[in-house]
Amino acid sequence: MKSGSRSRIQQIQGQGRGCETPAGLKTDRADQPALQGPGRGIHSRGGAMTVLAQSGMQNTFRLRASSEIAYFALEIMNSTPIRVAVTGAAGAIGYSLLFRIASGEVFGPNQPVIIHLVDIEPALPVLQGVVMELEDCASPLLKGLVATASLEEGFKDINWALLVGSVSRKPGMERKDLLGINGKIFTGQGQAIQKYAAKDVRILVVGNPCNTNCLIAMNAAPEVPRDRWFAMTRLDENRAKTQLAKKAGVDISAISNLAIWGNHSPTMFPDFYNARINGKPVTEVITDESWLKTDFVTTVAQRGTSVLKARGAGSAASAANAAIDSVKSIANPTKAGDWHSVCVCSDGSYGIEKGIICSFPIRSNGKTLEIVQGVAINEFSQSKIDATVNELKDEKAMATELGLLPA
Ligand SMILES: NC(=O)c1ccc[n+]([C@@H]2O[C@H](COP(=O)([O-])OP(=O)(O)OC[C@H]3O[C@@H](n4cnc5c(N)ncnc54)[C@H](O)[C@@H]3O)[C@@H](O)[C@H]2O)c1
Repeated sequence: MKSGSRSRIQQIQGQGRGCETPAGLKTDRADQPALQGPGRGIHSRGGAMTVLAQSGMQNTFRLRASSEIAYFALEIMNSTPIRVAVTGAAGAIGYSLLFRIASGEVFGPNQPVIIHLVDIEPALPVLQGVVMELEDCASPLLKGLVATASLEEGFKDINWALLVGSVSRKPGMERKDLLGINGKIFTGQGQAIQKYAAKDVRILVVGNPCNTNCLIAMNAAPEVPRDRWFAMTRLDENRAKTQLAKKAGVDISAISNLAIWGNHSPTMFPDFYNARINGKPVTEVITDESWLKTDFVTTVAQRGTSVLKARGAGSAASAANAAIDSVKSIANPTKAGDWHSVCVCSDGSYGIEKGIICSFPIRSNGKTLEIVQGVAINEFSQSKIDATVNELKDEKAMATELGLLPA
């Protein structure tokens, strides 16, 4: 893929859908005639507010149909769209992810978005179909689409990058071969993010091996602060929560404080010792510790393979869902007392090598993340954490040997 090549297939601008214009947002909507009659005054954001206030119509407005109220909400929403890049946008996870971003589910009902769909040249015809379907959803929050194989266009001014696209492991391919192929992709994407993205960009890597891909991209973008880089273990967390809820016969919402430690791979450790069921330690509710140490850990570790065997295709909808959960948990404050799992750049906490991208128990205040300190680690947990961190160190050594990381 050539950065800057003229491979963009479409950019929607000002097609009467309130899309992006050079001067900013267009708020008049030809497709909302009911809202443009005399006395309604909802032709522009400022105008709408003024007319309603002057004529004392606020109470009347509250009684109107919910669809109109939804449109009113649109009128007072944040006027600046955020730009979100999704790589691998023509792939399976992309297809489960993009429509939920466009609907407002990820960044909120008051946050307009412009989505950059990034894929490789051969995938552009498919991407064009995805673009058509996104348009056909007529989401009021979707202010523009950029479909491209150019990294410059793909990452220009983006506030979020969801790096999903990567090459899957083929039969007979060694882990090192895969790392060599994907490592190059993430070097280029890291460099492009540094060069073209907005200053506040945050990056979530989903494409596997996601921890090391994230490490490679982060090292290729030394000017992007290290606390903006994340890799995804939320799917493992969600899988683990489901298994605990099923075993305990409780609702999924009863499970909290479930941290995944380490690498997003079968070596990850779902920390059942510190997880809670209705506020109680898991081991007080599920007293079969041997099940927790063996069947539970193995089921979570092998869940991706089980889905692949059953479906004949990898986890896609659940992976997209986990990406959405990850972004929401990073961008919004964590519930008091709880934590979530995401891979961040290690600061050396819990003796884990500084600088590697490792999954920890994490809390967010909506702006910054912190690794939760003081989580109890027993001998069993420590041996599991050591194994998964050693795998991360091996991947790092492999990437260094391949020249993808500085020696
Ligand atoms: N972290 C996790 O929990 C998790 C979970 C599930 C899947 N994954 C990983 O997510 C990735 C994507 O999965 P999928 O099911 O969507 O795969 P997919 O094969 O359906 O789609 C991958 C897409 O990436 C594109 N792509 C390849 N190279 C690219 C590049 N250089 N730039 C941009 N796009 C590129 C492909 O053209 C394709 O459209 C895989 O690596 C998979 O292993 C991670």
